[in-house]
Amino acid sequence: MQQADLIIKHGQLVTPSGIHSGEVVCKGGRIVALNARDWHANEVIDARGLHVLPGVIDSQVHFREPGLEHKETLEAGTRGAVLGGVTGVFEMPNTNPLTLDAADLNNKLQRMQGRAWCNYAFYMGGSADNVTQLPVLEQLPGCAGVKVFMGSSFGSLLADEDELLEQILRAGKRRMAVHAEDEQRLRQRKETICQSRNVEDHPEWRDVESALNATRRILRLAEKTGRRLHLLHITSAEEIALLAQHKSRVTVEVTPHHLTMAAPDCYQRLGSLAQMNPPVRSRRHQDALWQGIRDGVVDVIGSDHAPHTLEEKSRQWPDSPSGMTGVQTLLPVMLNHLNEGRLSLMRLVDLTSAGPARIFGLEAKGRIAVGYDADLTLVDLSAKRTISNDWIASVAGWSPYDGMEVTGWPMATVIGGECVMRDDELLGEPAGQPFRFLDAERELE
Ligand code: DOR
Repeated sequence: MQQADLIIKHGQLVTPSGIHSGEVVCKGGRIVALNARDWHANEVIDARGLHVLPGVIDSQVHFREPGLEHKETLEAGTRGAVLGGVTGVFEMPNTNPLTLDAADLNNKLQRMQGRAWCNYAFYMGGSADNVTQLPVLEQLPGCAGVKVFMGSSFGSLLADEDELLEQILRAGKRRMAVHAEDEQRLRQRKETICQSRNVEDHPEWRDVESALNATRRILRLAEKTGRRLHLLHITSAEEIALLAQHKSRVTVEVTPHHLTMAAPDCYQRLGSLAQMNPPVRSRRHQDALWQGIRDGVVDVIGSDHAPHTLEEKSRQWPDSPSGMTGVQTLLPVMLNHLNEGRLSLMRLVDLTSAGPARIFGLEAKGRIAVGYDADLTLVDLSAKRTISNDWIASVAGWSPYDGMEVTGWPMATVIGGECVMRDDELLGEPAGQPFRFLDAERELE
């Protein structure tokens, strides 16, 4: 018998060759066998009745540290992640200070030491201030790539002129992430439309045309420069149709919020709690996002976890900040959609594990296979739970899904062969590590 660290037994494994019963044998942080016949371990997880998925990766979260720790911290954000079955996150650069150079990135990496419950990487912001250094910055260890805001959302990061965008696109080669809303159009419409002070007008202010214009512009520039793109939080039927024509170079994210909520109902029910950018739109757009998932136009689900306090959210629109928590509810909400027949388990795993690993070139992630990292999410597809604010780890302390009954729940989170969450309880110590990227030329020390 050989000695392993952990064996997960009796579960249904979701593997590239299908869903079948088996064991996952973990040793030294890796999966070393999918059959425990020759293996022994002191720690065994009985996964009877559970499905074992490759660890869920959330490639868009805002964890607010440094500078805005009253909304979120790296510790609380990653804690929420593992409580929600998420094993790794990519964190966004609109903190204070913004993440614009090596010192900013190192500061975030340092802050994660001993405080990261899950694995992580950080986006570098792309702006006029750092454009010449981007080819070096995007290669730094722990960097997920470059993120650009074409329309201002929260924080001062902005690159809205085509000339600057083209410079940024030419300054590097990794897949570049984009928030596509047209700044000029947003500014033009703000005064007139926001006079109503009614949050139901949020999708009218930041309308489909605002998103579509920006998406068209960045696609044209990507074509011109040959750069690969990742379009974050796509919200409209028109963009899905357009993006379907550009799949050779462009990957697409949608969020659980846009797949679950619809206007006007969500604004009537939740007020500015449902306010995010780009906005939650009507049912017609939501249906198109689901069609985009079925057709394969959508590559990943990212939560766009963007916490603000309830007090901040209670300001009168449009002074209320945009964004909702989401990292902890990503998986429960998507499992509920699965139970309601909107997607299969194989498709979900493609969107939350294999998809991010494939499009961002994550080393040894995204599948249950021998030699891959032992990052795993164990779920009970038939567990019924009610999402409540009490369960939310975020410093902001609330979820737009408070009170929602869901079927399907994360029962355990395993990272690098260590079980860090079981039955809603945290176990052990934060031991998350930076992701390694096949695209990056520099190695982590
Ligand atoms: O609603 C949003 N909030 N959208 C974004 O793009 C930024 C985010 C935030 O940081 O609050």
